[in-house]
Amino acid sequence: MDIKGSAAIVTGGAGGLGEATVRRLVAEGASVVIADLAKEKGEALASELGSSVAFVETDVTSEDSVNSALDKAASFGPVRIAVAVHGGFGGGGRTLKSDGIPHSLDDFQKTIDHYLVGTFNVLRLSSAAISKSEPLESGERGVIINTASIAGYEGTIGQVAYAAAKGGVIGMTLTAARDLAVVGVRVLTIAPGTFMTPAYGMPAEMLEEMWGPVVPFPKRMGQPAEYAQLVQSMIENQYLNGEVIRLDGAIRFGPKSPR
Ligand SMILES: NC(=O)c1ccc[n+]([C@@H]2O[C@H](COP(=O)([O-])OP(=O)(O)OC[C@H]3O[C@@H](n4cnc5c(N)ncnc54)[C@H](O)[C@@H]3O)[C@@H](O)[C@H]2O)c1
Repeated sequence: MDIKGSAAIVTGGAGGLGEATVRRLVAEGASVVIADLAKEKGEALASELGSSVAFVETDVTSEDSVNSALDKAASFGPVRIAVAVHGGFGGGGRTLKSDGIPHSLDDFQKTIDHYLVGTFNVLRLSSAAISKSEPLESGERGVIINTASIAGYEGTIGQVAYAAAKGGVIGMTLTAARDLAVVGVRVLTIAPGTFMTPAYGMPAEMLEEMWGPVVPFPKRMGQPAEYAQLVQSMIENQYLNGEVIRLDGAIRFGPKSPR
């Protein structure tokens, strides 16, 4: 599908992977709504990128909020692209702590709510918005891209809630693609390895030192632009559907994070 002329929303569009995605989609000719909670950063990015970009303060877990972002996207043109790449929510911990205290159920639920329910909320509401766009000649109406993590396959110790949430995103990809085939909407998921973004809250040099040597090849962290490049390929290659693609330099997490 051509990116040019499509309207898109990017949840978490003011974050590390999200900003790179917004920049890439705009460069390829899309109009983009940055749907994020980070008002200052989102507005600054929107005003830098010009009139085909808007910021809408959005909480992915709220129906009204996501619909407002989609309405804004629809004001730009036919909505055909949704990329769910929000993140930044903590909530880690072992299933059973060394002092015998079990994982907080509340923290587990909050993590699932943010990463899995939030992603599904974006998926279901975007599918409704995209289904209202006229089909292209090929019958295609649009593409929805979710973001999982390789932790959804092999979470490290202390990541049980995050791993469950991301495993859920992986698990719903094929079924959602099957559900939405009837309206000509493809569904794909990217499972990133370790990408250099503000999410880690650490200086770049320290991060690279920690993760670079663990990646088989290339021996470095991923760059957000490489995530955005895969988003572009997923949109453009119509035969990709219902699939989760790892983007990770062949890294496989062991039981312990190098941190
Ligand atoms: N960076 C990595 O190495 C890596 C690896 C695997 C998976 N991921 C996944 O990629 C996604 C993005 O990660 P990132 O590194 O770009 O994170 P980031 O912290 O740089 O950006 C996340 C963005 O999401 C926004 N956000 C937070 N809560 C929100 C909400 N309720 N509604 C809308 N927006 C919200 C934040 O304001 C922020 O702008 C996350 O889902 C993360 O789990 C990242």
